[in-house]
Amino acid sequence: MTTAIRADHVAKSFLSGKVRTQVLEGLSIELTSAELTLISGPSGCGKSTLLAILSGLERPDAGSVEALGERVWELDRAGLQRFRLQHLGFVFQGFNLFPALTALEQVMLPLGYLGLGHAAARRRAEDALDEVDLAHRRHLRPAELSGGEKQRVAIARALAKQPQLFFADEPTSALDAKSGQTVIDILHRIARGHGATVLCVSHDPRLVTHADRVLRMEDGRILSDQRNAAPGSSPVEESSS
Ligand SMILES: Nc1ncnc2c1ncn2[C@@H]1O[C@H](COP(=O)(O)OP(=O)(O)O)[C@@H](O)[C@H]1O
Ligand SMILES: [Mg+2]
Repeated sequence: MTTAIRADHVAKSFLSGKVRTQVLEGLSIELTSAELTLISGPSGCGKSTLLAILSGLERPDAGSVEALGERVWELDRAGLQRFRLQHLGFVFQGFNLFPALTALEQVMLPLGYLGLGHAAARRRAEDALDEVDLAHRRHLRPAELSGGEKQRVAIARALAKQPQLFFADEPTSALDAKSGQTVIDILHRIARGHGATVLCVSHDPRLVTHADRVLRMEDGRILSDQRNAAPGSSPVEESSS
């Protein structure tokens, strides 16, 4: 296990009208490869903002982010885009699938941008769909899939890129308990099986026992940092600040 992402004194505020809201104030965090880290906390505490800053989507006002040895926010626009394409996978609450494409086509699409030929892209996409147990549904479009299946297609699409960093923002919030459990188990397997660094942020307390490590966040601060001995059992307090 190695540190894959290090954020140092990250700050972010938003201006809406004349009111400036400080969302993150000097937050530091380190994420380790081959484990699933969950950031858990109430809506509005800054989870999505933090995830966006760590993943190169939203520039912090201050502080630095180092991911896979790159100072993310010192890359130029093209460099950042390349970094994200090559190393990052994303899953969001709303699946973000194209209505007209089959599951297989959704998963193949980004592989084309990575420069893979059609046959290689197809093989990788089929493997990824197989990994989320959707090989038999690969020719269906989103309207023909359940919520849980749509989220598994979105995971396969991210996974097929073979990213080292995997980000999930509220991946289970639109799902029933059973589908949500399947999704979090798959994310856990991605961390353990592929050695990826998986960061999941969610306000869903059901996920807490399924992560390797749980950071509790409130009002833009990390309140505690716990490691689960064996995910599924109860967490052990490691440190708190
Ligand atoms: N683009 C934005 N413009 C203005 N305010 C924002 C923006 N993004 C987030 N916020 C505010 O920042 C706070 C934290 O939001 P967010 O990171 O989405 O929290 P969470 O994901 O924990 O629910 C909220 O008060 C939200 O309204
Ligand atoms: Mg959010």
